[in-house]
Amino acid sequence: MNLYGRDFLKLLDYTPEEIDGLLTLAADLKAKKKAGVPHRLCEGKNIALIFEKTSTRTRCSFEVAAHDLGMGTTYLDPAGSQIGKKESIADTARVLSGIYDGIEYRGYGQKIVEELAKYASVPVWNGLTNEFHPTQVLADLLTVRERFGRLKGIRLVYMGDARFNMGNSLMVGCAKMGMQFTACAPQAYFPAPELVAECEAVAAGTGASLRFCKDPAEAARDADVIYTDVWVSMGEPDEVWESRIRELLPYQVNAALMRQASPGAVFMHCLPAFHDRKTAIGREVGERFGLEAMEVTDEVFEGPQSVVFQEAENRMHTIKAILAATLSEV
Ligand code: CP
Ligand code: NVA
Repeated sequence: MNLYGRDFLKLLDYTPEEIDGLLTLAADLKAKKKAGVPHRLCEGKNIALIFEKTSTRTRCSFEVAAHDLGMGTTYLDPAGSQIGKKESIADTARVLSGIYDGIEYRGYGQKIVEELAKYASVPVWNGLTNEFHPTQVLADLLTVRERFGRLKGIRLVYMGDARFNMGNSLMVGCAKMGMQFTACAPQAYFPAPELVAECEAVAAGTGASLRFCKDPAEAARDADVIYTDVWVSMGEPDEVWESRIRELLPYQVNAALMRQASPGAVFMHCLPAFHDRKTAIGREVGERFGLEAMEVTDEVFEGPQSVVFQEAENRMHTIKAILAATLSEV
């Protein structure tokens, strides 16, 4: 595997062998971190972290991963830069390429991160767009591999809004790695037909399967992984809450749904999750619609099948693998 100098914009750009190589590198870096073995593979380099949307996991993971690898970081928050307001993406790309060795970008359209990469002369990593969240899916794949010892043939069911970044990226990740992917949602929430067609073509070569199902109980039957995400994503207007709750409440991950899955099944979520009313939005929306939880009940989130915190930790190890592979010749 030689990924030196490459961008990481979406998993579709990577071969199954390259994804597998990144997972192996992440597992190795995770073991080194746990054993206290230094791994300063990118000593003396610096990276810029652009966040046009807020973050906990992705920002912290990039910062800690960079520091562990011996690098410096600069965080540009949603209000703290000229990007898009006074300076174009193309100009920003060329300015930052002169100062930094790599650029992370979290924002809105995938086109923006693709444009940044086009004009940058250093690697660009996608930290989430509306369409894709590839660093998250790499962490998810590592978590599944740790739990089941393999990826091929694993049955992953994604419940809820499957046409946004998480549903799209999980479908791509499963297609690439020969997994059995199911999107379970009302018709309007299925991924775009063009992306499905692209993933079907990938699946034909890897032995993966893709299924689109409207019935939650049928979709969950014998699943190895039940995955969900928020019903309203960053950047979407508050007005959509009402229709989302009406349309997606039948797809809530609760104990009854988990009972349909295989006995060894795990629950996964990219986080943050609305599993109780202990957040400002959880409380406000919960009171407005009379709900204790949204996409996942507290019982499942806190239950023995939930691997969400292992998954969150793996964000750091997998992002570290991406940084090390694209910035050094590991
Ligand atoms: N899962 C994830 O990307 O979390 P953050 O929004 O906190 O980075
Ligand atoms: N779909 C969510 C993912 C957050 C990590 C969002 O875009 O807000």
